[in-house]
Amino acid sequence: MVRDRGVAFLPPFREAVLSLRAHSAKLVARPAGRLQGRVCAPGDKSISHRALMFGALALGETTVRGLLDGEDVLATAAALRALGAEITHVRDGGPLSGDLWRIRGFGVGGGREPADVLELGNSGTSARLLAGILASHPFTSIMTGDASLRRRPMHRVIEPLTRMGGRFEGREGGRLPLAIVGTDEMVPIEYRLPVASAQVKSAILLAGLNTAGETTVVEPEPTRDHTERMLRHFGAEVRVVLAPGELGDGGKRITVVGWPELLGRDIVVPGDPSSAAFAVVAAAIRPGSDVTIENVGVNPLRAGLYQTLRDMGADIAFENEREVGGEPVADLHVKGGVLKGVEVPPERAPSMIDEYPILAIAAACAKGTTRMQGLAELRAKESDRLASVSAGLFANGVKHEMGLADLVVHGTGAPPAGGGLVATHLDHRIAMSFLVLGLAAREPVAIDDGSPIETSFPGFAQLMNGLGARIEAA
Ligand code: S3P
Repeated sequence: MVRDRGVAFLPPFREAVLSLRAHSAKLVARPAGRLQGRVCAPGDKSISHRALMFGALALGETTVRGLLDGEDVLATAAALRALGAEITHVRDGGPLSGDLWRIRGFGVGGGREPADVLELGNSGTSARLLAGILASHPFTSIMTGDASLRRRPMHRVIEPLTRMGGRFEGREGGRLPLAIVGTDEMVPIEYRLPVASAQVKSAILLAGLNTAGETTVVEPEPTRDHTERMLRHFGAEVRVVLAPGELGDGGKRITVVGWPELLGRDIVVPGDPSSAAFAVVAAAIRPGSDVTIENVGVNPLRAGLYQTLRDMGADIAFENEREVGGEPVADLHVKGGVLKGVEVPPERAPSMIDEYPILAIAAACAKGTTRMQGLAELRAKESDRLASVSAGLFANGVKHEMGLADLVVHGTGAPPAGGGLVATHLDHRIAMSFLVLGLAAREPVAIDDGSPIETSFPGFAQLMNGLGARIEAA
């Protein structure tokens, strides 16, 4: 499958895409023995996007260590450069937390009109969060992306940002390419999120920065709070009030006060729990494995998978718990065994929304039935993840049922058949999940296109092979 990468790459992004094309290929994962070793998770994708964006909206210099050097984050960097931020990558291979990135920001409301279309590749987080920044600047900009991103719903950010004063012209449903006619005279709103989405929350809060007065997002179900944490770190006034009576357990009102002076800061990005998940599940389903993944963010609003795996009987210890860059971090020590099927509470979904594909693989190897509900949002990800997972399970002989918003997987406790070829549909998490299935199945599992892995986890196959996996070009 040839990836449709859209048009008009900005120069730094073109470089990333060309290097990626070299890797664009069918991959196969062969059955492996037990996995062993210590590895470091790549930088957190959500936090990396935000570090670049807030650095661009701050005055003075921001430095970032541990930034994810993946294609999605590079797309955000390219877009912010087009708005006037100076972003440099110092390849010093710094100790512990990786290379240094330096950002000289343009300040809240200080971006300039981009001279060309902003090409965001596969990255929904770039598109939705940047929409908040662009709508609150008095110029016109156009965003586009690859075939996956051009299919994804944008109405969810267009609606609140239009209420604040932005104007949008996109394809049907507001899909990309999307023109944004921004304004520096936005009006503050109070907005209740109709879907549990940290991207929508963040887009509104970002627009609220260049808006006089107080902008409030009402969040009935808690979602990842990296934006709130990092905005405070940069000096913004952000008030979070728990409102259980009004909103139910975990409901919050989040208010940002407009026109703060954000000042450059030093940031260390922890490892990504959503990326660590692949190595954790691989080790958990290979009996006899003993793997430690160092430096993994374990923010409770991201750690739902780890709770679920423990419910399934996985042996996962959080070691060396500490704080990195204002986020809780631990080394995850995983020992392999046989998991058991469980019922996953639907209210846990926002804290593990990106992890259902890899959980489905754990469920396929577990003994018994695993029920996952409340998954409607999976249909709006890089691919329709419910359909992609179901097709991949089917191709590899795993008994399951898929509903409109739920998935039921029947494991036997014995290795699944495997032997299938899985279509990844430009979706990195589908690609990595089914490669993990290949390690534990009776026959090898192939994926049609490994290149999307570069969006979030460059070096995935090498890292997994270093632990004892057998992933190679097919
Ligand atoms: C993200 C939020 C989630 C997640 C995505 C990253 C973020 O999306 O799936 O990978 O960085 O805010 P939604 O906000 O659509 O749930």
